[in-house]
Amino acid sequence: MDSKQSKTALVTGGNRGIGFAIANGLLQKGYEVIITSRSLDKATEAAKKLQGIVIPVKLDVSDDRSIDRAKETLNQKIDRLDVLINNAGIYPDEGVNILTIDRQLLELTLNTNTFGAIRMVQVFLPLLEKSQDARVINVSSGYGEIDGLSANVPSYCLSKLALNGATIMLADALHSKGIVVNAMCPGWVRTDMGGKSATRSPEEGADTAIWLATEASRNETGKFWRDRRVISY
Ligand SMILES: NC(=O)c1ccc[n+]([C@@H]2O[C@H](COP(=O)([O-])OP(=O)(O)OC[C@H]3O[C@@H](n4cnc5c(N)ncnc54)[C@H](OP(=O)(O)O)[C@@H]3O)[C@@H](O)[C@H]2O)c1
Repeated sequence: MDSKQSKTALVTGGNRGIGFAIANGLLQKGYEVIITSRSLDKATEAAKKLQGIVIPVKLDVSDDRSIDRAKETLNQKIDRLDVLINNAGIYPDEGVNILTIDRQLLELTLNTNTFGAIRMVQVFLPLLEKSQDARVINVSSGYGEIDGLSANVPSYCLSKLALNGATIMLADALHSKGIVVNAMCPGWVRTDMGGKSATRSPEEGADTAIWLATEASRNETGKFWRDRRVISY
């Protein structure tokens, strides 16, 4: 990769759904894009469908060793990171509610959706610090809004509520380094997670994340967005 030519973005879970649409949008804007999946084969297959410079990488955000290995791999290919999009996520709350969910499922979801995003920032910070325009975007959800919490979607809601909290804290911690951090809600999107009845296309769901990654004012940090507008946490 030629770091002088274009900016570099990493999209976790970039092999399908909203992450794939974000990767595609960033490529169209001339970014070089790293897409990750828990399966290298799936990341590689997805990369073949995209046009531009795409690096497929195996990465499980719930596993610190996997994050470290991905960083080691990428250290040999990139010398800085301009955009980190924490998009990877799971929605496993089928047939459970806040009164019946077990600790294991709570841990799995928080580990993936929340702690994974925090750990990604920690591990990739040295590369982000080398950018003049570093931006972190956490793909959250209306289920993480205080008014959006649902007793029937317990682990997912808690994970996104906590991701929003982490966004505020990371923005504060990284302010002095000039790294901006925002959370966004893509709306209800037609993906494996959102299902066929969802109201938005993956491209519509990706729009605000792409905008935050490329065009939004660098004065905006620590905020929660939908449709390019600030919304309440
Ligand atoms: N769809 C919606 O309506 C909607 C609404 C609000 C928010 N969101 C959020 O938008 C984001 C993307 O959702 P989506 O609808 O595109 O979901 P999706 O189609 O189910 O895709 C999820 C992505 O996350 C990756 N992933 C899952 N667990 C992972 C792990 N442990 N480590 C690394 N990657 C992992 C998957 O890759 P592999 O399985 O290949 O590893 C896949 O690329 C999520 O954070 C979701 O919570 C979605």
